[in-house]
Amino acid sequence: MSDLFKFPFAKQEEAIKFPFQTKTADYQIEMPDEAFLQIRDIIYKQSGIYYSESKKYLLESRIAKRLVANNLTNYYDYLKLLSSANNRTELNSLFQVITINETYFFRAEQQFEAFEKVIAPEIIKHKDSSINPVFRVWSAASSTGEEAYTLAILILEKLKPMFPNVYFQILGTDINNAVLEAARQGIYRDYAIRNVPAYYLNKYFKKDGINYRINDEVKKLVRFMNINLFDSLQMRTITGCDVIFCCNVLIYFDIDSKQKVVSSLYDSLNKDGYLFIGYSESLHGVSKAFKLVHLPKAMAYKKE
Ligand SMILES: C[S@@+](CC[C@H](N)C(=O)[O-])C[C@H]1O[C@@H](n2cnc3c(N)ncnc32)[C@H](O)[C@@H]1O
Repeated sequence: MSDLFKFPFAKQEEAIKFPFQTKTADYQIEMPDEAFLQIRDIIYKQSGIYYSESKKYLLESRIAKRLVANNLTNYYDYLKLLSSANNRTELNSLFQVITINETYFFRAEQQFEAFEKVIAPEIIKHKDSSINPVFRVWSAASSTGEEAYTLAILILEKLKPMFPNVYFQILGTDINNAVLEAARQGIYRDYAIRNVPAYYLNKYFKKDGINYRINDEVKKLVRFMNINLFDSLQMRTITGCDVIFCCNVLIYFDIDSKQKVVSSLYDSLNKDGYLFIGYSESLHGVSKAFKLVHLPKAMAYKKE
């Protein structure tokens, strides 16, 4: 544990008093190992997110914010609160402080290129064109919406003109309600838009002071909702997907959680549909159900 975390708690009484007078989370109470294990297990059972012992300090600093918010002075009281009558409200607030929501537009450039140039046209060409076909993309673990809106921009720009009779739908989901609310608002700062080509930035965003607002035309293509990837019942409600982007979230799961989540994603995909995962992630040892497909600049997993 770093000195930063140890310093204010040299004296336990002071540590307990101080943060609750100032209502900031700058100072923390040390989390006993037993409380860590119990809270870690609740998080794991509810979300699949796994904190190893070496990440205890991370969890401690994040949960300190929930202690302050609930006027609690120790982690055992927080455990009681969390366990009391299946406290969904507190659980949702907990997910807001423990999840890592880093993302930006056009993050996985090569995957997006493979999506619009190869995969989407291939899938759409095999759809029955006598009726108006539906093409469904799911940004699972969408965070603040940049991935889902990037897909929407590419659909408007590249796919819709090629396949005007196709009805495109994009679903963005996350476990964290705060990021979903931000996604619905669609207002971004420099950091999020730094990879957006100038042409798209002019066409699909409106500059508003230091913010960039995504256009309604893009927004209309995307629906955001709370789905916990680890909740099999919720996952069963998402069906008929042609492509799923589930990027940069499997890294937070252990092998059992990954297997469970990937199996649900498999069920949500149509036959011949594709799954994209993050560049640093792999299904090696997780699932043999998919066929690994090498595309010109990216890889994807196909459900055959
Ligand atoms: C690093 S972001 C990835 C955002 C985007 N997919 C990307 O690649 O840029 C990871 C997201 O996964 C979400 N997440 C973590 N566990 C989850 C779970 N069990 N179910 C749904 N979303 C989860 C987090 O809330 C966070 O917004």
